[in-house]
Amino acid sequence: MLKRKSNRDFFIIVPPSFEDLAIKELSIKWPLIINLFTSLTLTKTSDLTSDLTSDLNSDLKMDIITIHGGLLISIPEEMGYLLNTILKIPTRILMRLDSFKCKDFPKLFNKLTKFPWNNYLKGQIPSIEASSTKSRLNHTGRIIETAEKAIKKYYIGQPPSKKSQEEASLIDIENFSIYIRFEDDLCTISIDTSGEALYKRSYKKFVTRAPLRENLAAGLLLKLEEAINFPKEEAILIDPMTGSGTFLLEALLFNTAIFSRNYSFTTFPLFKKYLKSYEKIDNFSNFSNSSNFILDNNHFKKYLGFDNDERAIDAAKKNWELANYQPPKDLQLIKADLFEEESTNKNLSPNSKIVIIVNPPYGVRLKQKEAKNQVLYFQKLLTSLINKFSPTLMAIIIPRDVDHRQIKYTPLSIFPFTHGGIKLNFIIYSNQHFLISTPNHYS
Ligand SMILES: C[S@@+](CC[C@H](N)C(=O)[O-])C[C@H]1O[C@@H](n2cnc3c(N)ncnc32)[C@H](O)[C@@H]1O
Repeated sequence: MLKRKSNRDFFIIVPPSFEDLAIKELSIKWPLIINLFTSLTLTKTSDLTSDLTSDLNSDLKMDIITIHGGLLISIPEEMGYLLNTILKIPTRILMRLDSFKCKDFPKLFNKLTKFPWNNYLKGQIPSIEASSTKSRLNHTGRIIETAEKAIKKYYIGQPPSKKSQEEASLIDIENFSIYIRFEDDLCTISIDTSGEALYKRSYKKFVTRAPLRENLAAGLLLKLEEAINFPKEEAILIDPMTGSGTFLLEALLFNTAIFSRNYSFTTFPLFKKYLKSYEKIDNFSNFSNSSNFILDNNHFKKYLGFDNDERAIDAAKKNWELANYQPPKDLQLIKADLFEEESTNKNLSPNSKIVIIVNPPYGVRLKQKEAKNQVLYFQKLLTSLINKFSPTLMAIIIPRDVDHRQIKYTPLSIFPFTHGGIKLNFIIYSNQHFLISTPNHYS
């Protein structure tokens, strides 16, 4: 049996301004993470069962330190790996390998030749990223060079097996990184456990114009959920400009673990050893062969996506097929123009509350006339949504340079964030305020 080590520090990188939502996601999903972990690791008869589970439950009170653009937590190593499969808001997850004071290159070289790289690498030289602030070692190029030389020297002393080397040749080095950070002469070495950025969902193969990044969509959905004060299972979620279906797919797959993509941690020899020690190596390969693993059934009654572009509807449908959600959920994707008269109401059940989430085109993507007066465009859009769907809640992404105070509906909440360098607001309106005009600051 492999001896369990104490907790490891994980740095969960999240989009700036999504830190609190990421903490919320982590706390909501913690029981699901424990479930997934136990189903992957514990044997029924194992003596470990009670010890580990009580250990893990006590970790529920774990400390989370928020840093701009990330969360720092300390949890068992294997659980940290699994966060990659479950959390939807993070961009990537790093694990701290070592931390030591260092003021000269010979010490850095020495330290790195002695680190047990064979636990994480299979003979490959990973891509190395270095940063330095307020430290004597500030030449990042030389830090990288030193690290590469040290890892090569380590391999001479402890050559990886032939099999490892063969496997190493299949690893995508560009997405396999070690991070070396110097701050006040403290050197911290971390390894990326994610590989390709986590917003790459693997089932999201078909995209149309201006797609929203999946992890931002997941975060905004969680923000919207904060405003829902009625049973979700009685409500319908509608995206009236669904594009390739990002919001709806993120909503549907929020509580699934995604195994249908590669993660760096699955190539770590130590991860395999952990699974072997739990006699559950087959479990993980079973999971990884299945596409997605449903952890919880907290769903809206129905999901509806509309778009006036046939290609967008087609892309969203294909993505949904790739997601292979079993058992299938009630999702309908229909070509319809929000501003045209044709009725979309036939797809709605009477007595259902309607929740809308929308990422409309803005700025250069609008027709010239609409782009000239975006306030008017968003006003018209929101009014159409109210007339067409009578929503209880509607949430919309609006560029921050559009003065939302000129729109005649009063927001319930405003969440500022950025996407691709563009400053945006995610504004939620509630039907209690639809009829109330805001004072016009400009008249
Ligand atoms: C910014 S994109 C949405 C992207 C989507 N969130 C995604 O991630 O793929 C805006 C979408 O609105 C659609 N659209 C524009 N005007 C529309 C209208 N009047 N009615 C319905 N859909 C419209 C466009 O075809 C486009 O797919």
